[in-house]
Amino acid sequence: MSSTIGIIGGTGPAGRGVAVRLAHAGYDVAIGSRDAQRAAEVVHGMGESATGSIRGVANEDAASADVVIVATPWDSAIVTVKPLRDQLSGKVVISMVNALVREGRELVPLIASRGSMATQLAATLPTSRIVGAFHHLPAAQMEDLESGLDADVVIVGDDPQALTTVAELVDHMLGLRAVIAGSLSLAGAVESFTAVCISINIRHKVHSYVKLEGFSL
Ligand SMILES: NC(=O)c1ccc[n+]([C@@H]2O[C@H](COP(=O)([O-])OP(=O)(O)OC[C@H]3O[C@@H](n4cnc5c(N)ncnc54)[C@H](OP(=O)(O)O)[C@@H]3O)[C@@H](O)[C@H]2O)c1
Repeated sequence: MSSTIGIIGGTGPAGRGVAVRLAHAGYDVAIGSRDAQRAAEVVHGMGESATGSIRGVANEDAASADVVIVATPWDSAIVTVKPLRDQLSGKVVISMVNALVREGRELVPLIASRGSMATQLAATLPTSRIVGAFHHLPAAQMEDLESGLDADVVIVGDDPQALTTVAELVDHMLGLRAVIAGSLSLAGAVESFTAVCISINIRHKVHSYVKLEGFSL
């Protein structure tokens, strides 16, 4: 696989899980952090799950990859990518960011300004090609290649070529099927549904994921 994938905020469970399956698929993955040393330690700590090519770098270096994933908490996504605007120009930038807040035993969605975190990112990075994906995936199962995960990845975006790029990438990843849903205007619904998945997980003590039935691709 010739593409390099950078993950901004990749040291958290979400970024690590995606990194493991991308590296397993043969991509060259850079896990980004505010602190390159921390990123290197996180990758070291991943042990055998970090098979393939995964390295820990600063977020700025992760942003120099061919395709870049944003995996920070929602309230730091914009401030983190803004200084990287020029570096990310022209690139496919995948948002897996969900704006959620805990209320008792549930997670509830926040309505991000402009309707979703993906559309906020698109406004912040006007010359990048923003795609929403990976929102519903359970991080721990993603990081464990033997978890038996068999999930759909709902993909949204306004750039047809970028959608195809991300769908191909997802289809290379073990246990995942790409399902392009439509335009970036659907991102709010996709992100909000994550609150449903996580609330199901809390209530039933499970690790749910999305699997759409009734069609084959
Ligand atoms: N966890 C999941 O199962 C899952 C699944 C799908 C999507 N998501 C989404 O993916 C995103 C990341 O989830 P996560 O659970 O991995 O989150 P997390 O562990 O809270 O954060 C991920 C990384 O973001 C960086 N970060 C934290 N606070 C920051 C700040 N104020 N400014 C800049 N960077 C900061 C940290 O990296 P450094 O300290 O190394 O910089 C941290 O390791 C979220 O938006 C979440 O909704 C999560």
